[in-house]
Amino acid sequence: MADQITVTAKLTDYIRQVSLREDDILHELRKETADLPGGAVMQVLAEEGQLLALLAGLTSARSILEIGTFTGYSTLCLARALPADGRLVTCDITDRWPAIGAPYWQRAGVRDRIDLRVGDACATLEQMLATEGAEIFDLVFIDADKANYPRYLEFSLALIRSGGLIVVDNTLFFGRVADPDVQDPDTEGVRELNARLRSDERVEISMLSMADGITLVRRLF
Ligand SMILES: C[S@@+](CC[C@H](N)C(=O)[O-])C[C@H]1O[C@@H](n2cnc3c(N)ncnc32)[C@H](O)[C@@H]1O
Repeated sequence: MADQITVTAKLTDYIRQVSLREDDILHELRKETADLPGGAVMQVLAEEGQLLALLAGLTSARSILEIGTFTGYSTLCLARALPADGRLVTCDITDRWPAIGAPYWQRAGVRDRIDLRVGDACATLEQMLATEGAEIFDLVFIDADKANYPRYLEFSLALIRSGGLIVVDNTLFFGRVADPDVQDPDTEGVRELNARLRSDERVEISMLSMADGITLVRRLF
């Protein structure tokens, strides 16, 4: 079996040169976000945003849930991949960061597809399940606080349709998941999610070592 290639900085540059299609709107949002404290670490990589759009298209998604908006780079990638009458519900605990992204959503002509829900995501998702019902999304993107990842997975499995795709970000969590000496709540949350997914017969999975680790989860029934 061929080994996993080591992605050096040189190779990353090459990958970006030959595959990245980040336009001016995305690029400007990325730049404005990177100037915020911790901003560059929080937002998805440009190539991950491109992957999210491709996955939304591949699954013919018309209804998307995002858990963790921040300044809305991934929101914009996903919203653009929707048909004009599609909808994207995105959740964040604060409206401070999404307020930075909203003008970019507007410029890209997709603001009306985006439904921002502000508040603790577990409460938002519980309320959504109670009022809007189960199996209402084609694609879910999980990218909020890591300690709650196991709970977000369960909510997502209830909210996604059978055959739908859940994309989980940061499943390698800066490599901390593989270091048994690291036991903070965020690392433990990601570890628990990874362990649960491995044995969950409701789903098929593929764990990609791209970016900070991305796990693709398809609900089987
Ligand atoms: C890693 S960032 C999301 C990045 C975003 N997907 C992007 O590409 O720019 C995580 C976000 O989750 C939000 N968050 C943290 N805890 C939360 C909670 N309990 N409920 C909802 N959102 C939360 C943070 O405010 C932050 O904006």
